[in-house]
Amino acid sequence: MYAFSYVNPVKIIFGKNSISKIAREINKTDKILLTYGGGSIKSNGVYDQVQTALTGYQVVEFGGIEANPTYETLMQAVDLARREKVQFLLAVGGGSVVDGTKFIAAAVDYKENDPWKLLESRARFSKALPIGAILTLPATGSEMNGYAVVSRKSTQQKLAFGGPLLYPRFSVLDPETTFTLPLRQLQNGIVDTFIHVMEQYLTYPLHAPLQERQAEAILLTLVEETQAMLAIPANFDARADLMWCATNALNGWIANGVPQDWTTHAIGHEITALYGLDHAQTLALVLPAVWRHLFDQKQEKLAHYGRRVWGLQGSDPAVLAHQAIAKTEEFFQSLGVATRLSGYGLNGNHFATIASRFVESGTGIGEKQNVFKSDIMKILELCL
Ligand code: NZQ
Ligand code: ZN
Repeated sequence: MYAFSYVNPVKIIFGKNSISKIAREINKTDKILLTYGGGSIKSNGVYDQVQTALTGYQVVEFGGIEANPTYETLMQAVDLARREKVQFLLAVGGGSVVDGTKFIAAAVDYKENDPWKLLESRARFSKALPIGAILTLPATGSEMNGYAVVSRKSTQQKLAFGGPLLYPRFSVLDPETTFTLPLRQLQNGIVDTFIHVMEQYLTYPLHAPLQERQAEAILLTLVEETQAMLAIPANFDARADLMWCATNALNGWIANGVPQDWTTHAIGHEITALYGLDHAQTLALVLPAVWRHLFDQKQEKLAHYGRRVWGLQGSDPAVLAHQAIAKTEEFFQSLGVATRLSGYGLNGNHFATIASRFVESGTGIGEKQNVFKSDIMKILELCL
């Protein structure tokens, strides 16, 4: 196990009717900016619950944060927050709303330059408004981490940034809020969670049995509870388990002391930026391709994963590793998520642009930092 330090300051408030508890977490005198997306919270009753919980508070609203939140939209919220001098940001929605709100939090006081620099050159920032989150879509883990991903329409970029100031002060996870999710978003959330685990697990063997089993516990629970939820969509317990899996997959816990990959996410973000596919849809295409391209490097861990998670048996690691890849693709396909770009009727017309966004030499990406522009091109071709 490698050396690590770990802190996660997010207070999780989990369970039915938890939204009513937020008033205890926000100063009565704080002026709040309530942020949300395209309106799902208004049709499923979450907005009303938030209104009731915030009785007596001064609240300004900013709706319309889109999936894959854009700099263009978020800067309007930054202007509003500055004008209204808000003191607390309350994000209500999926990962896009939480991420967008993190950007607003950092951008409001970042006046020395264009806040896009926070993403483009990972500019340091020393202040951010406090954030609370009410999560309605289990997927990204944004509710319990300090990262955010923001897109820019004008340049077709999608970039991540983060920092200790971006952890929400609290996050409310009420599984009942997920009952109105369309099937596509449920599928996306399961795939995203699965692949977050993979980015921190499917690297190379290292003696870290606890983290390894924690990662496997998330994967096994995810597979089991997905079946339970799909069989009976109104199954509260399954939804609660899936929600908690998503949070645990990216709150830093399973990353402690182990190598991390993130190649799939890096390529996936570019595919969303250029093709417009959902985040999880891109990941389901790229992950098997990364594994095939880096087969020798990942073979041993793939075989281990196949045994532990899919119950595969046999002694030839190469055979087991191929079977593990096939099992993973079958799982995504069983959820209705395609594992090839052709499944969306798309072709390789943007591959050269995507590859050009990665370095040719020096420090590459992946657990061995050995994935370069030429590898990206080969991985993309395996996605076709
Ligand atoms: O906008 P509204 O009307 O709210 O509708 C949303 C949106 O259309 C809808 N939705 C959310 N909760 C709902 C609901 N519809 C009905 N009932 C509910 N309870 O779902 C749609 C998708 O929402 P979105 O927030 O975009 O999805 P998700 O949570 O998957 O977030 C994706 C974004 O997070 C980023 C992705 O790149 C992408 O931009 N990520 C953030 C990460 C992080 N901060 O750590 C890590 C991830 O790897 C990921 O990159
Ligand atoms: Zn993700």
